[in-house]
Amino acid sequence: MGLTLTEKIIRDHLVVGKMEKGTEIGICIDQTLTQDSTGTMAYMQLEAMEVPWVKTKRSLAYVDHNMLQEGPENMDDHLYIQTVAKKHGVYFSRPGNGICHQVEIERFGVPGQTLVGSDSHTPTGGGIGMLAIGAGGLDVAVAMAGGEYYITMPRIVRVELTGKLRGGVSSKDIILEVLRQCTVKGGVNKVFEYAGPGVLTLTVPERATITNMGAELGATTSIFPADDMTRAFLKAQDRESDFVALAADADAQYDQVVKIDLSALEPLVACPHSPDAVKRVADLEGMPVNQVCIGSCTNSSYLDLMKVAAIMKGKTVAENVEMVVAPGSRQVLTMLAENGALADILGTGARVLECGCGPCIGMGQAPCTDGVSLRTFNRNFKGRSGTVSADIYLLSPETAAISAIEGKLTNPLGKVELPAIVMPEHFKVNDNAVVPPAPEGEDVEIIRGPNIKPFPLAKPLKATVEGKALIVVEDNITTDHIMPSNAKLLPFRSNIPYLADYCLTPCDPDFPQRAKDNGGGFIIAGSNYGQGSSREHAALAPVYLGIKGVVAKSFARIHKNNLINNGILPLVFEDPADYDRIAVGDDLKIDDAVDAIGTGRVTLTNVTKNESYPLSIEISERQREMLVAGGLINRMKARKDA
Ligand code: F3S
Repeated sequence: MGLTLTEKIIRDHLVVGKMEKGTEIGICIDQTLTQDSTGTMAYMQLEAMEVPWVKTKRSLAYVDHNMLQEGPENMDDHLYIQTVAKKHGVYFSRPGNGICHQVEIERFGVPGQTLVGSDSHTPTGGGIGMLAIGAGGLDVAVAMAGGEYYITMPRIVRVELTGKLRGGVSSKDIILEVLRQCTVKGGVNKVFEYAGPGVLTLTVPERATITNMGAELGATTSIFPADDMTRAFLKAQDRESDFVALAADADAQYDQVVKIDLSALEPLVACPHSPDAVKRVADLEGMPVNQVCIGSCTNSSYLDLMKVAAIMKGKTVAENVEMVVAPGSRQVLTMLAENGALADILGTGARVLECGCGPCIGMGQAPCTDGVSLRTFNRNFKGRSGTVSADIYLLSPETAAISAIEGKLTNPLGKVELPAIVMPEHFKVNDNAVVPPAPEGEDVEIIRGPNIKPFPLAKPLKATVEGKALIVVEDNITTDHIMPSNAKLLPFRSNIPYLADYCLTPCDPDFPQRAKDNGGGFIIAGSNYGQGSSREHAALAPVYLGIKGVVAKSFARIHKNNLINNGILPLVFEDPADYDRIAVGDDLKIDDAVDAIGTGRVTLTNVTKNESYPLSIEISERQREMLVAGGLINRMKARKDA
């Protein structure tokens, strides 16, 4: 029987386990990436592992999330990342060089290689044929240290593309259609593999838009074959030697098939407050708009912004709209500046931001109160923009650009006459903003600002785990809820004691103090708990507050791993109705916890109500050992001491 593309890459990197669906496997990792918001913690963890030099083929540390410098904290963090990277064999992409995923695709992604990144949109690399997976910082630190990365052997979804996109319809509409069909919960433990004749009509940047936003499916990753389009892209980046042809076997077996006729697709929009709340733009046409933001790791490529410039050239942004454009990388910005497209964009009255995440993570450009903001980004969770009352709509650069001019949501289909925008034969290549590491073994001083505090470690698991239900939260709680990451908090990403005071406060402002007053306890949650960003801080802050377990209807993949890595029990209600039986303040208890988690079955006693609930815990033996030790670092220390 033939293999899918995903299975071929896994086969070539398999270190632990067998390729049996649903079982845990360990794969070796060729490349890693971190960004500044998760990177400080990942490098502190690498230091704690006492690994002098990374063991990957290439590791990169990017600074893209927070470049607002209102105090010294931010630049202190940059300096720490830069110096720790230099000492340990990691390349450092300086602030302003671009968003990690955009730069990774342009300059470092290699078809057929594995990439683990401490950012949930790491799957962007699938656009160039990498098996690229988002993970917590600790997992990335382990990969840098030469350890394998563990995933559940995924089920493979074939997304069959036929036909060709019409003018005004873009690759963003393809991923919005996949989200409409499959939902934010539809991708758990799955890889979305794109195939069919429609694939060859899409350039690498267009493919990267799709694999990027595939993260919103909750998928392990998404991937495209490496074909002539990939070769042309790499050649234009002076990297043709990195090309290898990759495709699934003709007789590969898939677990699920999704079919999309590109010719029939029309412009789509994800409505507030979920990326899968997808409607046709035509159905909402005419909605007044306050703000338009173009950029983010989803839609900030040279091709995207050339389209925007072509649509807007010679026109003016509507009076009722504020518009910002953030190019994805210095390469993109430089090329737009040199060919005049930047002047076309500026000529419309739009503002141009530096190359970084910016408004995508709420670092500036928060919409007005009750505002409507159209964004080419990938997430529209409530409050992520910095304005809780704002409504964020996710859409394509074409729809965003024409809507900015019209001042209302406008369907670009049939309305925009785009000149043929093709991939350039040669991109502007200049890697001078990527600082290489020092020679191995050279003495490099690591600069640590006062804001860099040690990360918290959980305690080894006790036989009896006791505590109060400290909070009960609903379905689809995101890591943005658990550990908000706004302009005020991001400078403290290396200071968990400070951040912990904001843990889960969008759900309940009193939660951190209640947790402290009770010496920790349990979080009770609905389904898909921890979806969204990979941020490990959403596990580290609860560790600091003494959280021993999260009891949920279900978990998002990366967050569940982060909880386990940091010694917090991820427990699932066997009967979801039991969720309704627990109230804040109830005394909860698990007896024989150490033995019970090994069986996969745990009984939670509600002492206050004198009842008990069966729970399950789906973990491997390796994860059980971690939980018993109080997390991955404690387990590694214990093994070293033994
Ligand atoms: Fe940055 Fe937003 Fe992407 S925060 S990495 S642009 S999802």
